[in-house]
Amino acid sequence: MPQGVVAVVGASGFVGSLLTRALAGAGWTVRAIVPSAVAVDRLRALGYQVALADVRDRRSLDAGLAGCRAAVHLVAILRESGDETYDSVNRQGAGNVAEAIKIAGLDRLIHLSALGAGPSCTRYLRSKWAGEEEVRRSGARHVIFRPSFIMGPGGGSAEQFAQAVTYGPWYPLRLLLGGDSVFAAFANLTPVIPILGSGQARFMPVDHRDLFSAVLQALERDDVLGETFELGGPDVVTFDQIMDTVAEVLRLRRWKLHIPGGVASMIIRIFSVLPNPPIMPDEYETLQVDNVCDNTNAVQTFRLSLRPFAMSLRDALQGSVSSGGLVGGE
Ligand SMILES: NC(=O)c1ccc[n+]([C@@H]2O[C@H](COP(=O)([O-])OP(=O)(O)OC[C@H]3O[C@@H](n4cnc5c(N)ncnc54)[C@H](OP(=O)(O)O)[C@@H]3O)[C@@H](O)[C@H]2O)c1
Repeated sequence: MPQGVVAVVGASGFVGSLLTRALAGAGWTVRAIVPSAVAVDRLRALGYQVALADVRDRRSLDAGLAGCRAAVHLVAILRESGDETYDSVNRQGAGNVAEAIKIAGLDRLIHLSALGAGPSCTRYLRSKWAGEEEVRRSGARHVIFRPSFIMGPGGGSAEQFAQAVTYGPWYPLRLLLGGDSVFAAFANLTPVIPILGSGQARFMPVDHRDLFSAVLQALERDDVLGETFELGGPDVVTFDQIMDTVAEVLRLRRWKLHIPGGVASMIIRIFSVLPNPPIMPDEYETLQVDNVCDNTNAVQTFRLSLRPFAMSLRDALQGSVSSGGLVGGE
C-alpha cells in the first residue's frame, strides 16, 4: 500500500476526476490541485485534500505541492483563450510544475503528454512536446506518458464523439443553443454524420484503466524513471470506424457524409467565430493525420493487458446512453 500524499495537478478535469479516484482506491492520500474555487467543495466532499494553484504561477504551486511525496501533472489546454495560451499553460506551466517539484524535493513527477507530441506537428502537439522538454530539462525525477485518445466515463473524446453522432449536422447549433431533445429529434430526421476530411486517419484510443495501471506503477518503480512511454489501445481504428462504433453503441442508424478538405477548411473557419465551436483549425489538422504508436515498450514494462476499443467505448458511454442517443450530454 503506497504511503504519502500524491498531488494531482489538474484534478478537476476529465482525466483528473477519474485518476483521483483510482489513486485513492490504491491507497494514496490525494491532494487535488485546481486553478479555481469552482470544484473545491465537490473535491473536499470526496475526501481529498484540496489546494488552489495556477500552473502559470510558480508561488501558488510551491504552496500547493508542499508536503507531497509525488505529483501527477495533467494540466493542458486544447483551445487558447486570452492569456491562457499553449505557451503559457502547456509549455511554461509544465516547466513551473517540474521546477516546483525539483525545488520542494518531491520524489517524482508523472507528466501526461499526448501521443504525436513532437517538434514539427500541429501547434497543440508542439506545445505538448515543449512541455515535455521543460520537464526533461528541469532535473526533476520524472516519467512521461504520451497517451492516445483516453476513453473513460464522464467526458473526454468518447463523450464528444457520442455527441457528434447523436446530433449529426445539428451538433454545432446544439453546442451554441443547448436543447438536447430538440436537436436529437432533428438529427433522427436527417440521420447523417458530417465527417470533415477523408475519415481515413488512424488512431489507437486507450482505456483510462490501462493508462492508470501504468501511472500507478510509475509512481513507485525506480526502473522507469526518466523514460517516455507512448501508449495507445490494442486496436488501430480509422476515424470512420470510430464513428461507426459509436453509432453502434448508441444504437443509432447514421450515414457518414464526407466533406472534402477544401470545403471542410472553409466550414471550420466559419465555425471558429462561434462562441463554442465544435472544432478548431488545429484540432481538424490533428484529426487528419495518423496518430498511432508501437505500444511494445509500455505493454511489456507495465505488463498491460489492453482493453479493446469497442469495450472501452461501451464502458465509457454506459450511463450517458439511453436507447438511441445520449442522456444529459450538456
Ligand atoms: N483526454 C484525452 O483524451 C487526452 C489524450 C491525450 C493526452 N491527454 C492529456 O491528459 C491531460 C488531462 O487531459 P483532460 O482531458 O483531463 O483535460 P481537461 O479535462 O481539460 O482538464 C484540464 C485540467 O487542467 C486544469 N487547468 C486548466 N488551466 C489551468 C491552469 N492555468 N492552472 C492549473 N490548472 C489548470 C483544469 O481546471 P478547470 O477544470 O478548473 O479549468 C482541469 O482540471 C492533459 O495534459 C492532456 O493533454 C488527454
